[in-house]
Amino acid sequence: MKSSHITWQTGEIDICKREKLLQQKGVCLWFTGLSGSGKTTIACAVEKSLFERGYHSYVLDGDNIRYGLNGDLGFSAEDRKENIRRIGEVSKLFVDAGIITLTAFISPFRADRDAIRHLMGSGRRFIEIYIKCSLEICEKRDVKELYVKARRNEIEEFTGISSPYEAPENAEIIIDTNDLSAEASLTRIMDYLIKNHIIEEK
Ligand code: ADX
Repeated sequence: MKSSHITWQTGEIDICKREKLLQQKGVCLWFTGLSGSGKTTIACAVEKSLFERGYHSYVLDGDNIRYGLNGDLGFSAEDRKENIRRIGEVSKLFVDAGIITLTAFISPFRADRDAIRHLMGSGRRFIEIYIKCSLEICEKRDVKELYVKARRNEIEEFTGISSPYEAPENAEIIIDTNDLSAEASLTRIMDYLIKNHIIEEK
């Protein structure tokens, strides 16, 4: 930490007051999984469903964030750690604002994801959603045609090929997209949110 002589400032309005006004609980739905596993598709479907039920939510997506805020970061282990650290901090601010925050990042390292769980504190505001899909299927889909390039060594440190992915050990939700459709995945997540009193059944 380079900043010194700083003091944490609080106003009169806190998360409880914001949640009361918005009539919802601020939480972070943290999607993790290989490139092409379906993180963005499912996160956007959940966002749409929440929107239609009258909830305020927002998707922070790996590819999109790398166009702006994290455009200075590459894909080395160090840069990925910083990518996830920044998004963890941004998510914490969104959650503090009372927003249902959905993040879709590969976030391949367990320690980095656990650090965000810790950052979010107690209060069950961090829900890890593992979008489980075999490398074989992601590679077969190859929506962005990146796997084929990674196999040709045209992309370095590609997750699953030349860079590791550490699967979650204690994810709140596991979605196996090898055999679940996008619609069934959406239902599974919405059911979890209702059952755990994060949203109401409407
Ligand atoms: S993370 O590992 O730091 O969490 P992030 O989710 O932000 O990754 O970005 C992943 C996206 O960047 C992929 O879906 C893919 O489109 C693109 N990408 C480009 N190079 C790589 C690479 N070497 N490894 C993984 N994804 C890459």
